[in-house]
This record gives sequence, C-alpha cells and structure tokens, in this order.
Amino acid sequence: MAAPFLEEPLYSFWKNQGAGEDTAETPGMRVDVEKYRMKYRSYRLGYTPAKGPVEDILKEAEKDSTRSKHKIAGTEDEDKSPIDEPLFHHLSDAKRADIGKYRDDYRKYRLGYASGAKGEVANLFKRTISQSHGGYQEVERICKELSEDDDSDLIRTVSEPAVPTWLPNRLKGLTTQLSGIFADAADESASGSQPIFFTQPQSVLPDPSASYIKVPQMPDGSLQLDAGFLLSNTPLPKAATEFSSIHVIQTAGVSAKIGAAQVKNSAAKLGKQCVVHDWPTIPDNDAKAEYDALYNVASDLILQGANRATLLVFVGAGEPGEMALAVILAMLPFRGIQLAYVTPATEYENPLRTLRSPSGVFEYTATQPERMGRASLAAIFGPLEPCTFKEPLTTWSPLRPEVHPEEQPAPFKIGGLDLPMVTFEGAYSDGVERLANLLVSHYGQDVYPVVSVGETGDALGYGDDLLGAIAAHDCPGFYFPHASGETCKSPEAYGQLELLKAIGAAKQSGKKVVVIAVGGGVNGNATGMIAAMTGSVFVEVPTTLMHYNDATTSAKKAFSLVVNGQILSKNILGTFYLPQLVFCISETFLTLSKSSVHAAVGEACKTMGMLGIANSKTGQEDWHNILGGVEFASDFTKIIETVGGFEKLIRFLQGTRELKAKALALGEELSAMRMERASFGQMATCAKHREKRLAELRRFFHDQLTSEDRAEVIKFLTVINTEIIAAKAMFLAYSDPFEKYRALLFEYAHTLGHGVEAFMNGLYRRATACGLDYSEAFRLHGQCVGMAVLWAGEMSKQQGLLDGDGFLAHQGLLYTFNRFGGYDFAPLRRLCDQLSVSKEEFCEGVLQVVRRDNKRGYCKCAADSSVDQLVRERPGCLLRSSDPDAELRYLVEVTEDSQRRVLERAYDCEFDKVAVLKDGNLQLVSRMEASGQEGDQVKTASALRGLIGSLYKEGSGETEA
Ligand SMILES: NC(=O)c1ccc[n+]([C@@H]2O[C@H](COP(=O)([O-])OP(=O)(O)OC[C@H]3O[C@@H](n4cnc5c(N)ncnc54)[C@H](O)[C@@H]3O)[C@@H](O)[C@H]2O)c1
Repeated sequence: MAAPFLEEPLYSFWKNQGAGEDTAETPGMRVDVEKYRMKYRSYRLGYTPAKGPVEDILKEAEKDSTRSKHKIAGTEDEDKSPIDEPLFHHLSDAKRADIGKYRDDYRKYRLGYASGAKGEVANLFKRTISQSHGGYQEVERICKELSEDDDSDLIRTVSEPAVPTWLPNRLKGLTTQLSGIFADAADESASGSQPIFFTQPQSVLPDPSASYIKVPQMPDGSLQLDAGFLLSNTPLPKAATEFSSIHVIQTAGVSAKIGAAQVKNSAAKLGKQCVVHDWPTIPDNDAKAEYDALYNVASDLILQGANRATLLVFVGAGEPGEMALAVILAMLPFRGIQLAYVTPATEYENPLRTLRSPSGVFEYTATQPERMGRASLAAIFGPLEPCTFKEPLTTWSPLRPEVHPEEQPAPFKIGGLDLPMVTFEGAYSDGVERLANLLVSHYGQDVYPVVSVGETGDALGYGDDLLGAIAAHDCPGFYFPHASGETCKSPEAYGQLELLKAIGAAKQSGKKVVVIAVGGGVNGNATGMIAAMTGSVFVEVPTTLMHYNDATTSAKKAFSLVVNGQILSKNILGTFYLPQLVFCISETFLTLSKSSVHAAVGEACKTMGMLGIANSKTGQEDWHNILGGVEFASDFTKIIETVGGFEKLIRFLQGTRELKAKALALGEELSAMRMERASFGQMATCAKHREKRLAELRRFFHDQLTSEDRAEVIKFLTVINTEIIAAKAMFLAYSDPFEKYRALLFEYAHTLGHGVEAFMNGLYRRATACGLDYSEAFRLHGQCVGMAVLWAGEMSKQQGLLDGDGFLAHQGLLYTFNRFGGYDFAPLRRLCDQLSVSKEEFCEGVLQVVRRDNKRGYCKCAADSSVDQLVRERPGCLLRSSDPDAELRYLVEVTEDSQRRVLERAYDCEFDKVAVLKDGNLQLVSRMEASGQEGDQVKTASALRGLIGSLYKEGSGETEA
C-alpha cells in the first residue's frame, strides 16, 4: 500500500526526534526516577547522622557534601549495585520500620502534578557521563537499568487524598464506576447561587507574600538553625500537609556550613530526610557562572530526590544578589518549590521587590503579572524581628495592538489576564514591518530586541528580517540563532555566553530588553525561560500552528533534560511566564512541513472529540463545572468545515517543496557565511537570492491559487487557531490556569498516543542504525495523538459507550482529514515489518510505555489496568468517574486488555480509513476503497457537522444556544 504523500525531507526527521508536547511527560521516566530515588534514600538512611562538636559537624558536612557529589559522579559500581536491598537486610528492625514508615510517607508525598512532574531524571547524567565513560551507551544502560525496576508501586498524588469508597466495577473493558449523570467533583460541589460555568471572576491569581521569621541566636550572635523550626515556620506548598524532605544549599564560608550541618543533624533527629548541596563560589560579575550554577544545582536537587513537597533551605551569607539567585533556583525544579532563605543580614531585604543576581543579568520580581503570582520564596529566616511582606500584583499591561485591517485577533485569557494574540494575514514583509512598529512604539526607542530563532527559522530569514526591521527604527539588538528541535531544548543550548553578555550590557545601559522567540514551540518554550530568568519582556512570534495555538496558550515554559542527544526527561526545569504579545504572520505557515499541519489537525480533532459543541445548551450542561467556561465556549466542531482549506494547504506545501528546499539551502549557506565572517556584500547577495525564492513561493500562493482556494486556506488557518485557542482559554482563563486539574483533559488520546510515539521513536533509531529510510513512517506527536483519537473511539465502542451515529461522528472527525494518509498506520507497519517487529512486540512495547503513564498517579489503578479519558455517546460527552480524584481530570480506569486489542487492530491497519459521503450517506471507508475516489471532503464535513448537531439536539430536545 503506497503512501507517496508522506514524504518528508530527511532533515526534519532527526530534528524532530522525540517530539512531544508539553503536558506529555516523557512516558515512564518519572516512575523510573522515583525508583532510583527510593533506592538512593534507603541507602542514605543507613548512615548515622553526625553528632558532636563544631569540628565534627564541619567534617560531617564536608563528608556529606562529598558523598553527595560522589553520588552525582556516580561510579559504575554504585550505579549498578542494588543499593537498597543489602543495606536494608542489615538494618535493625527499628531502622527497617523507620525506613518503611519513611517509604510510606514518601509515597504519600510523591509528585503527581502534571505541570512539573516531568520525568525527573537529572542533569547528573548530562554532566557526568562523558564519552570516556561510554557516552551514549552509558546513558542507555542507566535508563535501561532504571526502567527494569519493578514498577508496581505507582502512587497517588500529594494533594488529593484517597477515597476509601472506591469500588472498581468491571464493565466489559472498563473498570470504573460510571457516572454518566455528572457527579460533581468535591472541589466544585459548592457552586453558590450562579452556576460556575456562568461565573466570571475578576481575578483568580494570588498576591505574592512572604514572611520574615526571627531565628533564635547563639550567645555569640550566630543563628541557631533547627530543621523543626524551619519546617514548622515555612508555609507548605498548596494542598500538602507536610514537607516530604529538606534539601539544604550551603554557600561557601564556615557559618553557612555550620548552619547546613545544624539543619541536617536536627532533621535526622526528626527522621526527616535531608540532603546537602554545595553552592559554588561564583566569580564577580560572571553571568555565565551564575547560569551554570543555577542549572547544575537545580538538576542536582531533582536527582537527589527533591520533589514538589520538598523544603529547600538556602543557607546564605547575606551577600548582595544572593536572594535573587536563591529565588531563581527555587523557581526551576517542577516549576517551583518552597524556599526558606536563611540570611544573617542585619537589614531587611524585601523579597517582593525586584531581586537582581550579582551580575545584574538575572532578576525576579514576584509582583510581575507575567509570573502569575507565583513567589517561590516562602519565608526568610534571620536575626531581625518578624514581619510580613505582601504586595499586590502590578497591573497587567501587555502590548495590545489597536485594530488593524490585516490582523485577526484571537481572544485568549489565562488566570484572568488577557493575552493579546493576533495573526497578521497580509504580506509577510508588511507583517514584519507592522510588528517592528508595534514593538518600538510600545516599548520606546530604548528597546533592546533579542531575537531568538532556531536553525530552520534562521535559514528562512524569519529572525533576521524582524531584527533588521527593528534596527531600521534605530533600535539595534542581538541575534541569537541556535540549534532547532526537541533534542536541543536544554539549558546548555540556550545559556550562551554572548547572549547573557548582550542582555547584561543592555540592562546596564538602561535599555528595555525584549526577548522575542521566532519559531516553533521548542524555541518558544526555551526562549521563554531566558526571558523569565532575566525578567525581560517576552514576545512570541510563532511560525508553527502548534506553537501558536498550543504552546503560547499556556504559561508553562521549560527546558528538557537531554543527554547525548537522547531526551531523558521533557520540560523538567521550568517556570510560568507570560508573553506580552503573541504575533503570528500567517505567510510563515507557507513553509511548514505537511507533518506539522497534520500534527496540528490531529490535536484539533482531539479537541473537537472531547469538547464538541460547548456553547450549546447541552454543552453548557456537559461543562457546567468549568469556572467562567461561558466566555470561551464555542462550537469547536466548526474546524471540520475548513477541511477544504486544509487539503489545499497540503497540496500547496507538496507543490512548493522544491522552492522551499532551495530557500533553505541558501539560508544555510548564509549562516555558514556569517560564521566565517564573510563580507557584508557577499551575505547580502545570498540573502537576496533566498528572498527571491521565498517571494516566488509566496507568489505561487497568491498567483497560482484561485482567490477562493486562498481564502479557504486562510479560513482553515484562522479557524483552527481561533478555536483551539478558545478551547484552551475555556479551561485556563479561570478554572485551571496552572493546568493541574480540569485542563488535564487536554491529555485526551495521549495515553496510547504517547505509547506509540515513544515506541516509534525507538524504531526510528533502530532504522537509522540499519540505514533504513523511515521517512514514510515518521509521525510527529500530534499525528500520534490523531491516531489515538481513533483508538479511544474504538475502545469506547468495545465497551458499549459509543455506538451508531455517536461513534461515526467521533471517528469521522479525524477520518475527514485523512485523505492524505497522515494518520494511517500502514507506513508504520511497513517499518515494523522491515525491522521484524511482530504484532506482539509492537503492542507490548506501546503498553510498556502506557504502564508508566503518570496519569496513573492521580487515582487508583489496578495492576492489569490503566487510566485514560474516554468519550461516550457523542463527541463532547466525557465518561466520568465517581472517584473525585480521578474525576478532577476526567480519568477513568480501563483494562490493559482493551488497550491491547485496539493496538492489535491498529497493527493490522484496520483503522486506516477515510470519511466519505457516498450516495448522500456518511461512511468510513478503507484506504483501498478511498484511494480510487476523488471525493469532496467539504461536503463530507458538512454532513458530519449536521450529524453532530442532530446528536446534540436528540440528546436534549434543544435548539442551539
Ligand atoms: N508550554 C506548553 O504548554 C506547550 C504546549 C504545546 C507544545 N509545547 C512545546 O512545543 C514544542 C513543539 O512545538 P512545534 O510543534 O512547533 O515543534 P518545533 O518547535 O520543534 O518545530 C518543528 C520544526 O519546524 C521548524 N519550523 C518552525 N517554523 C517553521 C516554518 N514556518 N517553516 C518551516 N519550518 C519551520 C522548526 O525549526 C523545527 O525544526 C514541544 O517542545 C512542546 O513541549 C509546549
């Protein structure tokens, strides 16, 4: 079965390897690391805490920190040995009981939040596994070792206590109590007089605050630190009842070491785990050393078992700039842990004012609305009288562009804050000009633009053009081209000396630094981290659909953990930080790859399937528990009616591949010339040639396509973006701005989607090693989600939850967009055959990933079961659980057998179909049958939309709202 339409230039494969999306944690990695931590902690429990005079304390502190470093260095022997078992058997009963209790406590406090609990393998590997240690193979070995651990102890989250009344109720493949009549989750039962769907609060973000607590002093005036005192006086993280452990950062100097040792010893007496980390001595005015220290120590924290409920104690010397570094450090792991900052300073430092690192490059202002009220500094401990700092969030004044005839705004809010998002639909060069004008007029002549762009955006000139346009206003800036792709989403790739120096110099000369991310979601997320660390204005210029409608519609920004090119953990070190403007120039989408468009549509079909017609009366009942949902509720299914524009865009991208390749080649030549410091004239000539190719490509769009076709393409882009942005806003505007509860619904179809994505990425690596071309089989994350939407529908059908027209409507959403085979399994099957991967191996491989899915941590899940989200009856109607923990995320428990069955059928290509309109009837026909037909997908879509509408009316006898 040939699928010649799935060609992709090879360069995009390796660049996109490991692609996934933000809420999608690297499957399995979190669980593996938890096991590693358990071992490591048991190992540490075997040591007697130090007691005795100061010299002993110092010695012990030194020893402890060496031990900690030694562990980081991780000799092969240590890493291989089953650390906990032998030690465990040698312990006394009392000690074993302690460990048992500790384990129970630890389990209680394991991470479970989606935002942040992202895999948790640390930079340890990155920094210690060099080529001389076996490099990549060594990383593989460690990952394998971790993943071979028993994974039967998946635990629930910190915040949501177990419900003792849980009674699994098996129904075909389903093992949950069904609550088709929507039982409210515990947190939403008291909705007051007005239904919460119609309640639009003014503000949902907290004002930051922090307390100063007086610490008892020794007769010589030095601070007397005690773990119990710190634990009981530092506010707990939201929803936790206790701190799970203490991690102490000891700065250089005797008093900090004594302080750290005091905390460690008193923690041991309490039976509380305590790990000490060294803060390096940083040369004066060295931003790069500050950056490296922040990420080295943050990674060390994660590896050595810090979790969301950890208390981070920073024992400082009271030096200027130290508090800023402590706060920025605490903001990184899991997007923020509670910080107790200990300082001997004899004057107050307000932690809510702008804090600057000694180099002046990094800064944190807790009242910045961009940070959405998150203040990672929870308490200050020192010799002064107690007091409380509290400040309101400053007024949110983003760059709100005035109405422009060529601009389409896409309304969006997060945490009650409006985020201006616009698409410029005119000519590319006018769009660049318009953006430059907006930036200079809003931020003034003192603006210092820092344009960050990945390889492809650089080669296509997208970053260069914008910087040039701003410079033309007499506002020069800094150009920061960097490697593209998921494997480069790491602190190392972005923390470049020149970049930090440029930002530092601009700040020193009083400029307004505006960090601008031009490119895909990887660039947006990682560049956002640089903006957040430097407290700069952040502006996003998305050039992929995914970046525009998914990555910018979330405040989550993050780096991944990447070791020797392998992604070990996605988005683990991050923070919340909002851009002040999202400005998209639609003509940049004309150079996208087909996969990228299919991926965006795969995610859109997921949204249509789960939310349906949310602004209908029935929809309002379905989503009655979403605070302020009414503001952004929409008929999300209208996206299908733009299928004509989608098909025309795909054809256009196919027809212009050569032009794009030529432009890219010229762009790459230009980058090389820049590196070799070629003359300005030579570079200008090359840039002109590239511009010519791109102009030709755009002309092709304007001259070769009829105005109707063009309008259809633009409509497709506008509608998919507007609707997906509205869908995100419906949940993030008020209900769940930090994406921990209801908004996790956006994980629909991600369980098996992640499974197949991770498994196929392994096959791509094998194919590369065998020299096989896997271009046809390559699938981006969103395409895997698209396939999994179909599988979710099939599972619902198996379980009698979705049938007849409801099933047809749910499956038809994706099948309408499948004329080009972007969601077919056949090419993946061919690769499996070439690599001799049997059906069993495929299913088992995918299920292994599924077994480590972190959604299991949110609710009960039996050994032979999994958790997932399922639609019942029709699109937009989610199956709901009576377990409040699960219900908060629309999770239900399903059997692994039901997942296996659907995977087996996918492997047999049973689901490679297309929705067509035959004799006036909507039908799902096999790829074979479909290939002979031209078909009119616009009519198909219209019939499908009619069917969905009638399902809504049938269910309620309503007329649409
Ligand atoms: N923060 C969030 O909540 C969130 C949500 C969704 C996705 N994300 C993140 O977004 C990332 C995925 O984003 P993506 O799909 O844009 O991938 P990407 O950023 O890797 O871009 C894909 C490729 O397309 C290239 N490219 C970008 N624009 C182009 C254009 N106009 N023409 C030609 N090539 C172009 C890029 O250089 C890259 O090689 C993931 O890292 C994910 O974690 C984050």
